[in-house]
Amino acid sequence: MAEVVIVESEAQAGEIASALIARLVHSKPNAVLGLATGSTPLSTWKALAARNLDLSKVRGFALDEYVGLPPGHPESYRAVIDREVVIPLHLTPEFIRVPADSGPLEFAGEEYENAIVDAGGIDLQILGIGVTGHIGFNEPGSSLASLTRVKTLTDQTRRDNARFFNSIDEVPTHCITQGLGTILRAKHLVLLAFGSAKAETLAKAVEGPVTASLPASVIQLHPNVTVITDEAAAARLQFADYYRAAWNSRLEWEKAD
Ligand code: PGA
Repeated sequence: MAEVVIVESEAQAGEIASALIARLVHSKPNAVLGLATGSTPLSTWKALAARNLDLSKVRGFALDEYVGLPPGHPESYRAVIDREVVIPLHLTPEFIRVPADSGPLEFAGEEYENAIVDAGGIDLQILGIGVTGHIGFNEPGSSLASLTRVKTLTDQTRRDNARFFNSIDEVPTHCITQGLGTILRAKHLVLLAFGSAKAETLAKAVEGPVTASLPASVIQLHPNVTVITDEAAAARLQFADYYRAAWNSRLEWEKAD
């Protein structure tokens, strides 16, 4: 079962997630992070920046990228990762990869998988969860064993992301994303969820059946998952009392800070 941490605020969640990253980087300065975009991880990047760690040796692989935006578009995930993660955290730009950032799109998935393997695999993967149950851009129906590949976005996800564009017509129809199988290979998954809009999806992901119809449910197949959620997103969790008790009684060596 995933470790589920229920917190009062996004800021508190960011503290906990950043403590996990800090512990990793302390023991492995060139750790490999899986980087997520979206609003969800922002409190984590903020809390991590405040720790003033030397992250210059850290390597990173973004979860996903739009297909079809002009190079340098401010909403491309390359640009978002540079703006929200690389610059504030003083990461080394050459060490940070985004899918399809080199070579033809046709081979980009395989190339990205090979790059992750060559880096020794992802040590800690930060994940948000979409209202559709996607992680990365693995929309419902994604194979639980899928690797990095080009996908079509659902209308729901395009509507959710339209807030970053002038209109929904500007939101790309396609993306390239790490697969669910890629995500399962990471050594530690840290999934963050905030707000009541995520409550039903989060409960299904953590406690419902494992199914390609709810791609985030694949986290139940992973042996090392930390879910960090605010009260609103936790509202539909059946075993919330147990999660709270487990967190409050964790043993000294289980604590990151
Ligand atoms: P959000 O998106 O962080 O903007 O809510 C999460 C996701 O779609 O993965």
